[in-house]
Amino acid sequence: MRWIWLTWLSLSLGLCGYYGYQVYASDDKSHFLIGETSVGHFQIELECSACHSEVFGGMESVNESCIGCHAEELEDAHDSHPKSKFTDPRNADRVDILDARYCITCHTEHQPERTGEMGVSLPDDYCWHCHQEVGEERESHKGLAFDTCASAGCHNYHDNRALYEAFLLEHADEPVLKALARKKARNWRAWHQAVHPDTESLSSGSYPEQLETRFDSAAIAGIHQDWLGSAHAEAGVDCVGCHQVENEPVWTDSPGMNSCAGCHTLQTDSFQAGKHGMRLAQGLSAISPAMSRKIFTEESQSLELSCNSCHQPHQYDTRYAEVEACLGCHADDHSLQFSQSPHGQLWEQARTGLMPEDQAVSCATCHLPRETRRVKGHEKVWVNHNQNHNLRPNEKMIRSVCMDCHGLGFAIDALADQDLIQRNFTGRPAERIPSIEMAIKREQEAR
Ligand code: HEC
Ligand code: HEC
Ligand code: HEC
Ligand code: HEC
Ligand code: HEC
Ligand code: HEC
Ligand code: HEC
Ligand code: HEC
Ligand code: HEC
Ligand code: HEC
Repeated sequence: MRWIWLTWLSLSLGLCGYYGYQVYASDDKSHFLIGETSVGHFQIELECSACHSEVFGGMESVNESCIGCHAEELEDAHDSHPKSKFTDPRNADRVDILDARYCITCHTEHQPERTGEMGVSLPDDYCWHCHQEVGEERESHKGLAFDTCASAGCHNYHDNRALYEAFLLEHADEPVLKALARKKARNWRAWHQAVHPDTESLSSGSYPEQLETRFDSAAIAGIHQDWLGSAHAEAGVDCVGCHQVENEPVWTDSPGMNSCAGCHTLQTDSFQAGKHGMRLAQGLSAISPAMSRKIFTEESQSLELSCNSCHQPHQYDTRYAEVEACLGCHADDHSLQFSQSPHGQLWEQARTGLMPEDQAVSCATCHLPRETRRVKGHEKVWVNHNQNHNLRPNEKMIRSVCMDCHGLGFAIDALADQDLIQRNFTGRPAERIPSIEMAIKREQEAR
C-alpha cells in the first residue's frame, strides 16, 4: 500500500509545484483567481504575490503581508485591538472564540458573498463574542442590540480615537460651528526659507535649444509664463529640475511621477498608499476610471491617474487641484452635490478671493487633509495624498478634518447620516447620536 501513498504524494506535490510555479511565473493570473477580492484590493488582485508572498507560506505569511502594508495605518489609528491584546495569556479564552491574532480571521479574501464593507467577512454581531458582559452589566447599554455596537457614531473595532469616553467628555459642549473655524494654513514659504535660506527665485527658465525646433515659440512662451507664476520658479526649480531626471542629461517631454518623487517624497508615498496610486506601488499600470465600478464622467474613462491628473503643468495651481480636477473624473451624487452645499459656496468665495482660503472647505479639505510633520528639522504643513487614509470608517474624519471647525457632537451626527453625506452636507443631520450623553450620564453615576 505504501507505494500508492508515495505515488499520490509525489503526484500531488508535483501538481502543487506546477500550479504554484504557474501562479508565480505566468503573466496572466486571472484564471487562477479563486474568487474576487474585496473592494479594497480589486485593483491589485492579480498581483497574487502581494499577499501570497511565499508559495507554501500558508496563513502566517498572508497575515504578514497584511501587516506589511497596513501596520503603520493601524498604529496611527491607535488600534483598540492590536495583536498584543490577544497574545496576552489573560485573553486566551477570547482567542478560543475568535482568533483575533490574525487579520484573516475577520478579513478573508476571494469570498465576495460573505465579505461586506471594509472587507469584513464576519456577521454583524462579532463584538458580542468577546464583550457580552457590557450589554448585560452596563446600565447605559442594556437593551441595545449587539449588531449596533459598531454602527455609525458608537464604536469601531480598530480606530476609536474620536469615540473614547474621555474624548467625548472633553468635547461635550462644543457648538455646531467653532468661533475660530479654520483649517491649517500651508506654510511652505516660511519652511523653505528656513531650510534653504540661499535659494533665489528664478525668472529665466533654461532649457535645451533644440526644444525650439520642436515646439513653436508661442507654446514655449506660454509654458514659461505659467512656470514663472508658480511656486517652482519662486523656489528656484528650473525647467530641467523636472524634465531631466536624476542628473541624466536627457530631456524628457513628459515628466511623470518619478520626476516629482525626488523632491516630493511624502506626497508620492501617500499617493501610492491609497486608491489613486496603489497600482503604481505594485509596478502595475495606473488605475483609470474605466477599471473601477464607481461612477465617473464619460470623458475621463481612459485617463490614467498620476500627479498630472490634478496638477496641470506648469501652473501647479493647487486651487484647481482641490475641486475642479476631481470633478473632471468623479461624477457620483455626492461629488456633484458639492457645489451647491454650504461648503461649496464658501469655497467659491475663497476661490475668487472674497474670503480667506483657510476658512473654506474643498474636496481636498476632507479627502486630502493637511497634516503637520517635522521635515528637515522644521514644522511643515503638507498634504496627505492618500484619500483613503481617513475615508472609512468615516469617524476618522472627525478629528483629522471636521473638528478644525465644528464641535464633536455635530460632526458625529453629520457623519452618521448617510443621506446627508450623499447630499455632500447640504442641511442638518437627521438624528442625534447619544454617545456624548451616555458618557456624561455614566460619569455622573460614577461620582
Ligand atoms: C489582497 C490580498 C490577496 C491577493 C492579492 C490574493 N489573495 Fe489569495 N487569499 C488571500 C486571503 C486573505 C486568503 C485566505 C487565507 C486563509 O483564510 O487561510 C486567500 C486564499 C487563497 C487561496 C486558498 C488557499 C487556502 O489555503 O485556502 C488560493 C488558492 C488563493 N488565495 C489564490 C490566489 C491567487 C491565484 C491570487 C492572484 C490571482 C490571489 N490569491 C491573490 C488574499 C489575497
Ligand atoms: C476581530 C476582527 C478583526 C480583526 C482580527 C482585524 N480586523 Fe480589521 N476590521 C475589522 C472591522 C470590524 C473593521 C470595520 C471598521 C472598524 O470597526 O474598525 C475593520 C477595518 C479594517 C480596515 C479599514 C478601516 C481602518 O480603520 O483602517 C483595515 C485597513 C483593516 N481592518 C486591517 C486589518 C489588519 C491589517 C488586521 C490584522 C493586523 C485586521 N484588520 C484585523 C475587524 C477585524
Ligand atoms: C500590497 C499592499 C497590501 C496588502 C498586502 C494588503 N493590503 Fe489591504 N489595502 C491596501 C490598499 C492600498 C488598500 C486601499 C486603500 C485603503 O483603503 O487604505 C487596502 C484596503 C484594505 C481594506 C479596506 C479598507 C476600506 O476602506 O474599505 C482592508 C480591510 C484591508 N485592506 C485589509 C487587508 C488585509 C486583512 C490584508 C491581508 C490579507 C491586506 N489588507 C493586504 C494595501 C494592501
Ligand atoms: C476576539 C475578541 C474581541 C472582539 C471580537 C472584540 N473585542 Fe473589544 N476588546 C477585546 C479585549 C481582549 C480587550 C481588552 C480587554 C478588555 O478591555 O476587556 C478589548 C477592549 C475593547 C475596548 C476598550 C478599548 C481600549 O482601547 O481600551 C472597546 C471600546 C472595545 N473592546 C470595543 C469592541 C467593539 C465595539 C467590538 C466590535 C466592533 C469589539 N470590541 C470586538 C476583545 C475583543
Ligand atoms: C514641476 C515640474 C516641471 C517644471 C519645473 C517644468 N515642467 Fe515642463 N512639463 C512638466 C510636465 C509634468 C509636463 C507634461 C507631461 C505630460 O503631459 O506627459 C511638461 C511638459 C512640457 C513640454 C511638452 C508640452 C507638450 O505639449 O507636449 C514642454 C515643451 C515643457 N514642459 C517645457 C518646459 C519649460 C520650457 C520649462 C521651464 C520654463 C518647464 N517645462 C518646466 C513638468 C515641468
Ligand atoms: C527639483 C525639485 C522639485 C521637483 C522635481 C518638483 N517639485 Fe514641486 N515643488 C518643489 C518646491 C521646492 C516647491 C515649493 C515648496 C514646497 O511646497 O515644498 C514645490 C511646490 C509644488 C507644489 C505646490 C504649489 C503651490 O502653489 O503651493 C506642487 C503642487 C508641486 N510642487 C507639484 C509637483 C509635481 C506634480 C512635480 C512633478 C511633475 C513636481 N512638483 C516636481 C520642488 C520640486
Ligand atoms: C487627486 C488629485 C491629486 C493628485 C493625483 C496629486 N495631487 Fe498633489 N495636491 C492635490 C491638492 C488638492 C493639493 C492642495 C491641497 C491643499 O492645499 O490643501 C495638492 C498639493 C500638493 C503639494 C503642495 C502641498 C504639500 O504637500 O507640500 C505638492 C508638493 C503636491 N501636491 C505634489 C504631488 C505629487 C508629487 C503628486 C504625485 C505623486 C501629486 N501631488 C498628486 C491634489 C492631487
Ligand atoms: C483622473 C481621474 C481622477 C481624478 C482627477 C480624481 N480621482 Fe479620485 N478616484 C479615481 C479613481 C479611478 C479611483 C479608484 C476607484 C476605485 O478604486 O474603485 C478614485 C478613488 C477616489 C476615492 C476613494 C473612493 C473609495 O471608495 O475608496 C476618493 C475619496 C477620491 N477618489 C477622491 C478624489 C478627490 C477628492 C479628487 C480631487 C482632489 C480626485 N479623487 C481626483 C479617479 C480620479
Ligand atoms: C465635508 C467633507 C467632505 C467634502 C467637502 C467632500 N467629501 Fe467626499 N466624502 C466624505 C465622506 C464623509 C464620505 C463617505 C465615507 C464613507 O462613509 O464611506 C465621502 C465619500 C466620497 C467618495 C467615495 C464614494 C463611494 O462611492 O464610496 C468619493 C469618490 C468622494 N467622496 C469624492 C468627493 C469629491 C470629488 C468632493 C468634491 C467635489 C468631495 N468628495 C467632497 C466627505 C467629504
Ligand atoms: C474649514 C472649516 C470647516 C471644516 C473643516 C468643515 N466644515 Fe462644515 N461647515 C463650515 C462652515 C463655515 C459651514 C457653514 C455654516 C453656515 O452656513 O451656517 C459649514 C456647514 C456644514 C454643514 C451644514 C450645516 C447647515 O446648517 O446647513 C454640515 C452638515 C457640515 N458643515 C458638516 C461638516 C463635516 C461632517 C465636516 C468634516 C468631514 C466639516 N463640516 C468640515 C466649516 C467647516
